Amino acid sequence: MADWRVAREEMVARVRGRGGIGEEVAGALRAVPRHLFLPGVPPETAYRDEAIVTRRDAEGRPVSSSSQPTIMAVMLEQLGMEPGHRVLEVGAGTGYNAALLAYLAGPGGRVTSVDIDPDLVGRARGHLAEAGFTGVEVVCGDGAEGFAPGAPYDRVIATVGVWDLFPAWLEQLAPGGRIVAPVDLNGVQRSVALERADGRWTSRSAVACGFMRLRGPFAGPEVLRPLDPESELMISLPRARKTGDVLAALGGPAAELPSGVDAGPAALADGFGLWLAAHEPRWCLLSESRPRWLTAGAAGGPGFTMVMGIVEDGGLCLLHPREAPAPPVVRAFGSGGAVLAADLLAHLRAWDAAGRPSTPGLRVDVHPGNGHPGSDGNLGDGVQAGNGMQAGDGVLSGGDGRPPGVGARSRAGDDDGSGTAPGDGLVIRKRHTTFVLSWPAARGRT
Ligand SMILES: C[S@@+](CC[C@H](N)C(=O)[O-])C[C@H]1O[C@@H](n2cnc3c(N)ncnc32)[C@H](O)[C@@H]1O
Repeated sequence: MADWRVAREEMVARVRGRGGIGEEVAGALRAVPRHLFLPGVPPETAYRDEAIVTRRDAEGRPVSSSSQPTIMAVMLEQLGMEPGHRVLEVGAGTGYNAALLAYLAGPGGRVTSVDIDPDLVGRARGHLAEAGFTGVEVVCGDGAEGFAPGAPYDRVIATVGVWDLFPAWLEQLAPGGRIVAPVDLNGVQRSVALERADGRWTSRSAVACGFMRLRGPFAGPEVLRPLDPESELMISLPRARKTGDVLAALGGPAAELPSGVDAGPAALADGFGLWLAAHEPRWCLLSESRPRWLTAGAAGGPGFTMVMGIVEDGGLCLLHPREAPAPPVVRAFGSGGAVLAADLLAHLRAWDAAGRPSTPGLRVDVHPGNGHPGSDGNLGDGVQAGNGMQAGDGVLSGGDGRPPGVGARSRAGDDDGSGTAPGDGLVIRKRHTTFVLSWPAARGRT
């Protein structure tokens, strides 16, 4: 029977070709047969460097998958596993990443993986047993609560998008430990590796990513709304709000405006996407699996398309990247589209003038508490009843040296779209914590 070693080796070469993957992680990818974790998927498909959705909800939203091997490998690099480590994974899914973790932890280590879906837990256990990873403990539960019986952990990794850092994780992490999680930064995700530093948590690295979101009572306010099941057009918003009829807007006439900023798709997705999400509360992301609504006028062939923009009831504008040196174009839809397009262009120019800050230069500091009365003042506290999602949550302009939550100006009702320059710090209040984003090395263009 074919063991698919050659296909696996080719997958490892592709993942390594995308950069930054060391020998240990490459060895794990080589050793674990991904196809055994994806029964029913043709093995040649299992060895593509692609995410494979394994479960959807009733409205067609993906709720479980085997993530793209490249992002798994990058996050394992961020995690910095050593033999003998005790690891907690949140989001067991197929069990494949748990097997990679078990390989890296070695016989002296221990891996516990939690998933909220009992059916997936049963399957992950079966896949791990078939692949020979009998020591991994797969637990059914809400991963936001960690898994206290297995604590303390040297490493905690989430393979599902989270809106906040959960007190249970911080409590269950051993001194000197590290957390790697895809955290929400006002609607965009970055996989951030965090370690303790002077009463806060500070990032060692940050990488762009796009994971499905945590389900259950600890879910964040982000919204993923299906718009057209045929093309799988979806709109992502940092929080629920009125957008008007987006399909009607997209189906109507569009005005096209040149942007004049010569940034290609990668720089826009990685740098400007984060900038826009941080500075613009009306930010949105449209994505589509089968070309129907987003391709007209956009560069690139058929396939998965993602376009960022600004939406309001009555208007929509989208930024369509083109291969550099051709600058992206802004397309405006609906009666309010032109005004939104002008706002989007102002953001684009501000990002450009600030030196195009991007994810590799990003620093994320996570402070205890969120500045609201009744929030946790201590990252080691237990989980408190949710006090998030109030109108005041969101991006704040601050960064004047005051501790987060003290006198910072709320962006709720502050819709001028302006923001603080990189380096000054952008403050995002969560339920249990406050995130401060900065770009220590960024400079304005001279
Ligand atoms: C992208 S998949 C994880 C992929 C997995 N690591 C693998 O290698 O196949 C995300 C998983 O997170 C799980 N999940 C969602 N919310 C959760 C929660 N609150 N606690 C634990 N798991 C959760 C989903 O059921 C899903 O299986």
